[in-house]
Amino acid sequence: MQAFLFDLDGVIVDTAHFHYQAWRRLANEKLGFDISEEFNESLKGISRTESLDRILAHGGVSLDDVTKEAYATLKNQWYVELVNQMTPADILPGIIEFLAQTRADGIKIALGSVSKNAKPILEHIGILSAFDAIIDGTKISKGKPDPEVFLKGAEELGISPSECVVFEDAVAGIEAGLRAGMKTVGIGQAEVLTKADIVRSDLNNFTPNELKNILFPEQ
Ligand code: BG6
Ligand code: MG
Repeated sequence: MQAFLFDLDGVIVDTAHFHYQAWRRLANEKLGFDISEEFNESLKGISRTESLDRILAHGGVSLDDVTKEAYATLKNQWYVELVNQMTPADILPGIIEFLAQTRADGIKIALGSVSKNAKPILEHIGILSAFDAIIDGTKISKGKPDPEVFLKGAEELGISPSECVVFEDAVAGIEAGLRAGMKTVGIGQAEVLTKADIVRSDLNNFTPNELKNILFPEQ
């Protein structure tokens, strides 16, 4: 076990509900329908443009490309307004301690997010320097569940995928990690993240060593 690749939204920071709030506002104010929290599960880990396509299909609405572009931009403006109000308190439980212990144990750390807002968010909450590599929405051409984001992370770190562990809150993200040939830790509910190697509600009171004993008992 030589590297950890972390998703951002819903794993490191509590931004998954900001994405939902901003999309819901767009659906309510511009599209004339509502989106449930359950439907929102299917948007986690999905790129901005693909998310809008899924929302439109869900509501049976079709739009021309110019309007779609304008709505995706509007959603992002609302999302950024919410994100800018964030404080370090929005860092999820146990993350700071887990990252510090990971570094102390000599395990490499990468970010693997499809968000184009990833870097400014990490800067905003003051943990950009915790990462040895950052792969975000500006560096990839295929969103999750494609493994590209995690394979690029492993490559940039110089670590074989079989020695990597992915931390994800999204079904599409767990799928991406598995397709990359990596072990996966689901952050959320076991009933939702059924394919993950293990699932925890958060990383509070958990250590890289405990994880190694579960995922790589032979090492
Ligand atoms: C993912 C989120 O991390 O990033 C998705 O789970 C989001 O909900 C995607 O759509 C793209 O984010 P952004 O910030 O580029 O719109
Ligand atoms: Mg996520």
